[in-house]
Amino acid sequence: MKIAFGSDHAGYTMKEALKKHVEGMGYECVDYGCFSAERANYPEYGEKAARAVASGECDLGILVCGTGCGISLSANRVKGIRCCNCSEPYTAMLSRMHNNANMVAVGSRVIGEGLACLIAESFLKAEFEGGRHAERVAMIEAIDKN
Ligand code: RB5
Repeated sequence: MKIAFGSDHAGYTMKEALKKHVEGMGYECVDYGCFSAERANYPEYGEKAARAVASGECDLGILVCGTGCGISLSANRVKGIRCCNCSEPYTAMLSRMHNNANMVAVGSRVIGEGLACLIAESFLKAEFEGGRHAERVAMIEAIDKN
C-alpha cells in the first residue's frame, strides 16, 4: 500500500517523522514535497499529494501544515479527495470508517509528533464500513463544486 505525503515548511519536520513511522508500519511512502524547511506554499504540495491519491498512484495520503487547515482545504479542491483535518485519533479512525476519507491532515503547530503518529496509525488501520455510510459519501461526491 502506497501512502502520499505532502507538507509546507511548517509541516516539513513532522512530515519526516510521520514518514519514518509509517514506513516502520510496513507501508511504502511517496513524498510529494516540500523537501526542506524553506518557506513553501501549502496549496502546491496539498494538491500534488491529493492528485496522486485521486489518480490511484497512491492509496491514501497524509498532509501536514501549521494548522492542517490550509493543506486540507487545498487537497479537498481535487475531485475525489476527502481530507479531514484531525487533532486526535478517534476522528481520524472514524473519518475512514464512516466518511471514507482518503487523506488525513494534521497541524504541526497544534499537536506533537507522538500524537500525529497515533493519528496516522488510526487512519491507516481503519477500514471504510460501507453500507449506509456509502450512500452519504455518494451524496458528498454529488455536491456541485461550481
Ligand atoms: C504557514 O505559516 C501557515 O500559514 C501554514 O502552515 C498553515 O497553518 C495554513 O493553514
